Amino acid sequence: MAQLWGGRFTKQTDEAVKAFNDSIGFDKRLYRQDIQGSMVHARMLGRQGILTAEDCQAIEKGLQGILADIESDRMEITAEYEDIHSFVEANLIDRIGDAGKRLHTGRSRNDQVALDMRLYTRNAVDEVRRETLHLLDVILDLMEKNTDTFMPGFTHLQKAQPTTLAHHLGAYFEMLRRDCTRFADCRVRMNECPLGAGAMAGTTYPLDRAFVAAELGFDCATRNSMDSVSDRDYLLEFLSDLSILMMHLSRFSEELIIWNSNEYRFVEMDDAFSTGSSIMPQKKNPDICELVRGKVGRVYGDLMSLLTAMKGLPLAYNKDMQEDKEPAFDAIDTAMACIPLFAGMLSTMKFNKDVMEKSAMRGFTNATDAADYLVGKGVPFRDAHGIIGRLVLYCIDAGKGIEELSLGELREFSGQFDEDVFEAVSLRACVNRRLTAGAPGEAAMAEEIAACRRWLEAQK
Ligand code: ARG
Repeated sequence: MAQLWGGRFTKQTDEAVKAFNDSIGFDKRLYRQDIQGSMVHARMLGRQGILTAEDCQAIEKGLQGILADIESDRMEITAEYEDIHSFVEANLIDRIGDAGKRLHTGRSRNDQVALDMRLYTRNAVDEVRRETLHLLDVILDLMEKNTDTFMPGFTHLQKAQPTTLAHHLGAYFEMLRRDCTRFADCRVRMNECPLGAGAMAGTTYPLDRAFVAAELGFDCATRNSMDSVSDRDYLLEFLSDLSILMMHLSRFSEELIIWNSNEYRFVEMDDAFSTGSSIMPQKKNPDICELVRGKVGRVYGDLMSLLTAMKGLPLAYNKDMQEDKEPAFDAIDTAMACIPLFAGMLSTMKFNKDVMEKSAMRGFTNATDAADYLVGKGVPFRDAHGIIGRLVLYCIDAGKGIEELSLGELREFSGQFDEDVFEAVSLRACVNRRLTAGAPGEAAMAEEIAACRRWLEAQK
């Protein structure tokens, strides 16, 4: 018997209808959660005197056997069953007979699938969070090693002010740290147990929902039974969080692609994390970055699919909701593939510090500091801004940096320039005098890094 229903039907399901309706092709990956939930449900039915102790034992043993057989490849989850719930129940009945037929007492596939998906997603949240924390560890190691690796900071992709690699990477640390806290937040709302909601209106059996919730590691049972079988908010929330995380990885990828370009040469990807061209022998391409950037679209699409599937649904369960699985699995799989690869790529990448530093010295990244120097000598900032603007124009013509002019040349623009200007506009001074909290100056950065390390350690 591959089907759980059929009593009120007089005809076989049309084959195309069966294929269209079935979800076993993709929900088979819920087998562990389905069996785990069924074991606890049976145990609870026994404790409540709804099933006999013998039946409960037989069910638990039977389910254990199915689990062991699937995990050791002795049993295959085949397409003749409608979904994973039918597969498990039908096989249990094959193995233990009548006791197996009692498992579904006080339960519906509606609350069963709601439970399975929550258990699966909760585990995925933990895994994604763990991988993100590992990526943060890689980023923080790089930050610690690069507090004096100077590079240009950009706005509009134009050189703006000098900074350090540690500071630049620190921005990504913050983004991914927020992602981790978002995962933790959504886990809190997700961690309520829907089993016991039945088809939608609870049940007449004296179920102990609190027991089931506690056994399965939930904080509590869900409240309204209609909401319990209709709610997919926790998935939408997780997919939103994954979309934001992927957007962060995509921005990071984009920068690395630019930095890895022939024109920039700030970084070089390790051979193990790059690919070549079939025609151009000189090529070494940053494919991991490009793929991560490309895969963001899938995750956004997954979120959009589910939002759209849910938007017109009346209460309570509707078959549309079976469409939650493929996008959810795809988004989880995509993120789980991207995050560790990204960490591996970062930790093996070579940073060309001398190229970065040279680039930081070109492009008048010290122009703000030159203006600040004049402010220090009593010139109002707006006037200083004008003076340095004219000075930059002169430098462009002369093909020189501000620091390469003679004091005589500088004095043509303002009598306030003195010998000490050269130290004031040096790269090291420009960076290390920026000491506001969160700025790249070495002392400010050291504090930031220590705080990041403390936060990261506290997550373990
Ligand atoms: N395969 C279904 C799903 O994934 C399980 C729930 C079926 N419930 C029902 N009333 N047909 O949503």
